[in-house]
Amino acid sequence: MRPPALPAPGPLSPLFGGLYAAAYGIGGQQLATQMVRRVGPVVALPVLGYGPVVAVADPALVKQVFAAKPDVLLGGEGVGPAAAIYGRWSMFVQEEPEHLRRRKLMTPPLHGSVLDGYVPIIEQATRAAMAHWPAGRPMRMLEAARELTLDVIIRVMFGVDDADEVTRLGAPFDDLLLLAISEETPVRYAARRLGALRMWGRLQGINRRIDDVLMPLIADRRAYPGRPAGILGMLVDARAENGEGFSDPPGLSDNEIRADLITLVLAGHETTATTLAWVMDLLLHHPQVLEQVRAEALGGGSTYTEAVINETLRLFPPAPITGRMTTGRYQLGDYTLEPGTRIVLLLDAVNRDPASYPEPDEFRPERFVGARPQPHAWVPFGGGIKRCIGAAFAMRELTTVLHTLLREGRFEAVSKNPETPPWRAAPVLVPRNGSRVRFWPVEAARPAGRSRR
Ligand code: HEM
Repeated sequence: MRPPALPAPGPLSPLFGGLYAAAYGIGGQQLATQMVRRVGPVVALPVLGYGPVVAVADPALVKQVFAAKPDVLLGGEGVGPAAAIYGRWSMFVQEEPEHLRRRKLMTPPLHGSVLDGYVPIIEQATRAAMAHWPAGRPMRMLEAARELTLDVIIRVMFGVDDADEVTRLGAPFDDLLLLAISEETPVRYAARRLGALRMWGRLQGINRRIDDVLMPLIADRRAYPGRPAGILGMLVDARAENGEGFSDPPGLSDNEIRADLITLVLAGHETTATTLAWVMDLLLHHPQVLEQVRAEALGGGSTYTEAVINETLRLFPPAPITGRMTTGRYQLGDYTLEPGTRIVLLLDAVNRDPASYPEPDEFRPERFVGARPQPHAWVPFGGGIKRCIGAAFAMRELTTVLHTLLREGRFEAVSKNPETPPWRAAPVLVPRNGSRVRFWPVEAARPAGRSRR
């Protein structure tokens, strides 16, 4: 019996295919999600410049993909477009065994008790940010959160606390992030695969500025090993063992440290900021939930706050897609994929699967109170051997920032309507209007009982 053909979004004339492909390059996952809803949980998408692409929203198939052996489905090539920004040395775009070697070297600064040491830094950065926010005037939480999480990650990465130095070090990373989340990047990637537009002056300029700030710090740390230098210092010192002693090579080269720091700063700052913007909007439109999080902020504990963050990440995963690439013919459920097929996993669709979550579009933090998220029904951090290495860091940062904000400030939403995702998809699933809030420091907070809208 012939295997079933992959469903596609309707008969594709070359003209429609070309237009659709161009739109996908810009429209990203939103278009894919609409297609999946219309056509089914596995959809072939013709995307100009990306080779064969298959979008997958079926939780069982996503689970299968996450569990696949790394020589069957490539992780680095699957997220290939990121190489344009993070650089070809980044661990994110490596394949095995190199990817795992690098992951092991990067894990210690992002896990376990070392996270406790970041809490005072995060609290201090949050207070410093709040001191500059305009009291009582509408502000966009999204941009405020981006500034704050960049500040946090720069302090933690480089072990600096002087405000001017944080600004100096953060500036080129901020520019790189803005380029990464612009519509230019997926289009550039497609064009590069088609053999055009290999020169990208703007990116090269930003990379030179990153080198100017980063390379002297790495050289300095190698010359003076005792000096505190945050995660950068830990990466310079990191040595991996392979069971028989040190792996080969045992540590990281300057180029690898440079690329991995860029990866950590970029992967770790926009995602967390976007989540913070969504959490704040959801809290300000759900007063009872807000009061319970505030109670934890004032009284201690974080169980309920973590449930709120988990539920926010379920509804609005800031990085809503990830990918893998087939090396040979690959059986995905009923379908046979050709070698070189890019499998795009629609994490937001898995997170809203009605079979896993009753009323999947409702904000109900109680789903996660006393219940850990199920690894294959809740995938905002991806899965398998490429699951987000910064997940524990992100959860700690979000909890700490939220508690500091609610202890030391009063907030209200500018609009009575909750935020929605943007019309046109972007690489990051941001709230359409930037999550607009009004803020007052606690000592100037509105008198209790006064209407909040
Ligand atoms: C709410 C915040 C965050 C979300 C939603 C998020 C989401 C993701 C997702 C979806 C992936 C791809 C996983 C896959 O393909 O299976 C990923 C990978 C990664 N993330 Fe995060 N992330 C967050 C925060 C962070 C932070 C704070 C850091 C670092 C400080 C970080 C560093 C990374 C790195 C290095 C990878 C690549 C892992 C690998 O290739 O092995 N992320 N993240």
